[in-house]
Amino acid sequence: MTDPSFTPDPAAFDALPRHVAVIMDGNGRWAKARGLPRVAGHRKGLEAVRELTRACGELGISHLTLFAFSSENWRRPETEVRLLMELFMTALDKEVAKLHTNNVRFRVIGDLAGFSDKLVERIRRAEALTRENRGLCLTVAANYGGRWDIAQACRELARRVRAGELAPEAIAPETIAPLLSLADGPEPDLFIRTGGEQRISNFLLWQLAYTELYFTPTLWPDFDRVQFDLALRSYAGRQRRFGQTGEQVEDAKRRGTGGHA
Ligand code: FPP
Repeated sequence: MTDPSFTPDPAAFDALPRHVAVIMDGNGRWAKARGLPRVAGHRKGLEAVRELTRACGELGISHLTLFAFSSENWRRPETEVRLLMELFMTALDKEVAKLHTNNVRFRVIGDLAGFSDKLVERIRRAEALTRENRGLCLTVAANYGGRWDIAQACRELARRVRAGELAPEAIAPETIAPLLSLADGPEPDLFIRTGGEQRISNFLLWQLAYTELYFTPTLWPDFDRVQFDLALRSYAGRQRRFGQTGEQVEDAKRRGTGGHA
């Protein structure tokens, strides 16, 4: 049977999210509206990434996860994929020292097998340099897909079963969750998608189970501090119940009995 304590306790959550996850959509449309090539939108999008990273650091939000490149993005025109890879590479070269100075821990989740050796080496170096930092944890999802994430966890479970380390009957949410990406931190409290679409698009499927969803028509390059504050305000106004009633949540908060150990 599933352990009920595995479900988050609503009274333990504050007005400020600990973990924000973002689908940064709308770069292409932003560029098109200005008669610019799509890559100009991605470049401008990188500025929005910088601004959001800074804002999260200042606010004391502990985790920021950005969907930079999905498993499906390989289907884009070859030149756009190549230019995006170059942008990731330059961004890594230019930004990592600054992230390190600002105590940011940087890491990448996803299937890196699809990327060039040079890019993977740069990523690993940046992760190693910033591993001990205890400020914002900035995770970039690259060649990531939520179904891929669950599948790789299943593969590991199957391996353990075959090795006799795990009984099939013992498989439960609690045995799957630690094998997924981001298992070492809190699950996202707030999910933001810019660009007007209202879907998850194979982002963190498991991890978003209880996350508050926020959709905005603002295109990613225009997502500035004012836009972020609107999202945070929307989040702060919501009541997270995790299956309980509104009365139970309010009562526990009043009594201060909801804190995590
Ligand atoms: C979606 O917009 C955006 C992407 C696929 C790429 C995101 C990349 C960046 C913001 C720049 C670099 C980021 C990091 C973390 C180094 P779209 O192209 O789908 O826009 P559209 O829907 O308007 O076509």
